[in-house]
Amino acid sequence: MSLQITVRKAVCPGSFDPVTNGHLDIIGRAAALYDEVVVAVLINKTKSSLFSVEERLALLTDVTASWPNVRIDAFHGLLVDYCRANEIPVIVKGLRAVSDFDYELQMAQMNRGLAGIDTLFMPTNPEYSFLASSLVKEIATYGGEVSSLVPEVVHERLLARIEENRRR
Ligand code: PNS
Repeated sequence: MSLQITVRKAVCPGSFDPVTNGHLDIIGRAAALYDEVVVAVLINKTKSSLFSVEERLALLTDVTASWPNVRIDAFHGLLVDYCRANEIPVIVKGLRAVSDFDYELQMAQMNRGLAGIDTLFMPTNPEYSFLASSLVKEIATYGGEVSSLVPEVVHERLLARIEENRRR
C-alpha cells in the first residue's frame, strides 16, 4: 500500500504595485492555513505600474522571507490557467469591504465555472480595510505619510522611486 501525501496549495494573486501591510496580513494568514502559498504577480503589459514585475517580485521575496512555505512567482494570462499548470486548487483573496465583494464574487464564480478552482475570501484585518496600493502611491506622491501602511523596505523604495520620477 502506498501512502499518498497531498500538499495543500493556495495562490494569492495580485498586482502588488507595491505590496502593502494589508497584502502581508492575508499572505501570512493563508500561510498558516495551507502547506504552500504562492504569491503570484500578474504581468499586465497594458497597465502602467510604478514598479517593474522584477522589482515587485524582489520586494515580495524580501518581505515574505520569514514564512518558509511562501514562494513568489509571476504569471500572465488567465489565473485559472496558472492554477491548473501549477496544480493549485484554491485562490485566496482578501475582502476589505462590501464594495470589494461584487467584483470578487463575479471573478470567483467565473474561475470556478472555468476550471473548478475555488476562492477563499478572507476578511481583511479592520486595521487595513481602507488600504490599497493605489492610495499608498497617491498619498506618498503628494508627500503624505505612508510608513505605517507598507513594510519598511517598500517605504524606502517607494520614496526613492517617486523622487526618481520627479527628477525626470
Ligand atoms: O491586485 P489586483 O490588481 O486587484 O489583482 C487582480 C488579479 C490579478 C487577481 C485579477 O485581475 C486576475 O486574476 N487577473 C488575471 C486574469 C484573469 O484570470 N482574468 C479573469 C478573471 S475571472
